[in-house]
Amino acid sequence: MRLTPMERPKMDSLISVKDLSIGFHLRDLMLPAVEGLSFDVAAGETLGIVGESGSGKSLSARAILGLVPSGGKVTGGSITYQRAEKSEVEITKLPKNGKEIRSLRGADIAMVFQEPMASLSPVHTIGSQIITTLRQHTCLSKKAALDRAIELLNQVGMSSPAEIAEQYAHQISGGMRQRAMIAMALSCDPRLLICDEPTTALDATTEAQIVELLAKLQGDLNMGMIFISHNIGLVSEIADRVMVMYLGQEVETGPAKDVLRMPGHPYTRALLNALPAFTEPGQALATLQGAVPDPTSRPSGCAFHPRCPEFAGSQCKNKRPSLHQLAERHRAKCHLHD
Ligand SMILES: Nc1ncnc2c1ncn2[C@@H]1O[C@H](COP(=O)(O)OP(=O)(O)OP(=O)(O)O)[C@@H](O)[C@H]1O
Ligand SMILES: [Mg+2]
Repeated sequence: MRLTPMERPKMDSLISVKDLSIGFHLRDLMLPAVEGLSFDVAAGETLGIVGESGSGKSLSARAILGLVPSGGKVTGGSITYQRAEKSEVEITKLPKNGKEIRSLRGADIAMVFQEPMASLSPVHTIGSQIITTLRQHTCLSKKAALDRAIELLNQVGMSSPAEIAEQYAHQISGGMRQRAMIAMALSCDPRLLICDEPTTALDATTEAQIVELLAKLQGDLNMGMIFISHNIGLVSEIADRVMVMYLGQEVETGPAKDVLRMPGHPYTRALLNALPAFTEPGQALATLQGAVPDPTSRPSGCAFHPRCPEFAGSQCKNKRPSLHQLAERHRAKCHLHD
């Protein structure tokens, strides 16, 4: 039985990721790209994932959809999805592109990608692409699917949805394309929506509108949402909880307001200090020094130590820090809390 969004109980755990590791083959080596990652997302909750390029945000999100790119492999851990009828499914054990994962993808768990032009077909109208998705997962007639497509385009704020349905991706603006992608993702009432940098290609005003739209839809439809961005300011606007990642690992997780007010990791503090809102007028932005290291030369000890403004000596250099519980739902992986 499929519950309507309004009937769904709040705070039911939808997805539970435990100790997830993902690696890539490089000649004889298996290079770790994600290591020991654990998080969960409940219905009606938004988890924000933040970190610089290469921190493993997209890879972790793709693993939830069973879409680890070729050459990559889940090397450990589990991803458990709780079906609406309460049965559990272990996603990492499903055959790649098998019937079961395909039936979850798009229907139970949907994804909005960074660049809509790469995901929308240039040769099909917006409406026909939504109709195709709908007819893959439901038994709606063509006419009913068209009506639903127009309703969805209306729901994502398109002022003339019937006309947009007849247009091609290149005929509409970037913001409208991203709205169309969101409509497509919502077409089968997903219980979990994953948004991977959904606003990176947009100007600041359109970005704010799309974030506002996603927050409204998430609340109205009582979905679980994972919102990925490299911008900690943007993430903390929309997320209930924030997980900060660095070089494939969680470095801090907590309620958004606690992470913002009392960041427990120097990396989180550095990301926040680089935001204009956290800088006194007239003061230069504190940019984070250095670049994320290449995964082939992962620093010893704490992977952030060569760039850390609060470097505290040999333990940072030699010993991997463990996660410290700072408050009931707030934890950080840093020797400063030893
Ligand atoms: N197709 C691939 N082949 C080889 N390695 C890959 C591949 N995709 C990802 N990786 C490895 O996994 C790491 C994490 O990649 P991921 O795409 O998850 O980063 P990200 O945090 O989403 O970064 P960005 O902000 O740039 O999108 C990369 O730095 C790279 O080492
Ligand atoms: Mg990414």
